[in-house]
Amino acid sequence: MVGLINLEYNRIMKILVFTEKPFAANAVKAIADTVNSSGNELKLVEMGTREDLLEAVKDAEALIVRSDKIDAEVMDAAPELKVIVRAGAGYDNIDLEAATKHGICVMNTPGQNSNAVAELVFGMVVMMCRNQYNGKSGSELKDKNLGIYAFGQVGRNVARIAKGFGMKISALDKFVADEVMEAEGVRPVHDVDALFSENDFVSLHIPATAETKKSIGYDLVMKMPKGGVLVNTARKEVIDEDGLIKALEERPDLRYVSDIKPDSAEEFEKKFGARVFFTPKKMGAQTAEANFNAGVAAAEQALAYLKDGWNKYQVNK
Ligand code: 3PG
Repeated sequence: MVGLINLEYNRIMKILVFTEKPFAANAVKAIADTVNSSGNELKLVEMGTREDLLEAVKDAEALIVRSDKIDAEVMDAAPELKVIVRAGAGYDNIDLEAATKHGICVMNTPGQNSNAVAELVFGMVVMMCRNQYNGKSGSELKDKNLGIYAFGQVGRNVARIAKGFGMKISALDKFVADEVMEAEGVRPVHDVDALFSENDFVSLHIPATAETKKSIGYDLVMKMPKGGVLVNTARKEVIDEDGLIKALEERPDLRYVSDIKPDSAEEFEKKFGARVFFTPKKMGAQTAEANFNAGVAAAEQALAYLKDGWNKYQVNK
């Protein structure tokens, strides 16, 4: 556990916001207002290079990022750094072990961008069901089976929206009690094979960890019913791309949509055309509202940590 700090809160501290993918303007203004009204200084670097990051972080005491890669080299370049806040949910971009060694607290901002990601799930699903709007007859979501893989903040929002479409919803999450899902009108599933074999749509919300990387591949996808659609707004790393390509080759009825291009995007697109769709950049959390919520939460959390060691969402130990 990174130890709590008790800083004298009577000097100006530098809070660095470094985002390769910029926040919406309203979010940047709100983050600036939050930092300025605390009497501290905001440094904003958008679309910066690695060199820009290494330079800007030199005197930063807090660092706010999105999916930007933060490793030991960045931490070595930042002798004053005490807290990193990932404005978002997934923190697979941050080297937690290195942060702990450097005595740096890492937090995320759970739930702040989850509605945006959940809405994109349905944006992409409807688009696929309507054949990417090519004018040909498509299909509807009502009465179809949706399987949600991981019932965290995004998964729960997906379930909430799916109810509006009249879908039959089930979910798999070994960390969530059946009663929690049932209270949301969601049928708990305890086996990943069943999740894939029983659902027309499977929506992935698992984090990218050593256990989940490349865990979704040929065997699981082949279990999907006729016309199945795999939806990935989680991480490209959880997909075994070779296995998925093989499954799509053998099953011309299956489709795949992903919020971020897979490494083999060209091969997917060449082989499967309109049966696949990929956003060019991760877009799930790219809304003014999600940027505002996650950005302001990140700024408030960073300041609270610097002020009195507040670390409710710390993810490194
Ligand atoms: C998350 O983990 O919060 C989402 O994937 C959003 O990531 P982004 O901030 O890079 O858009």
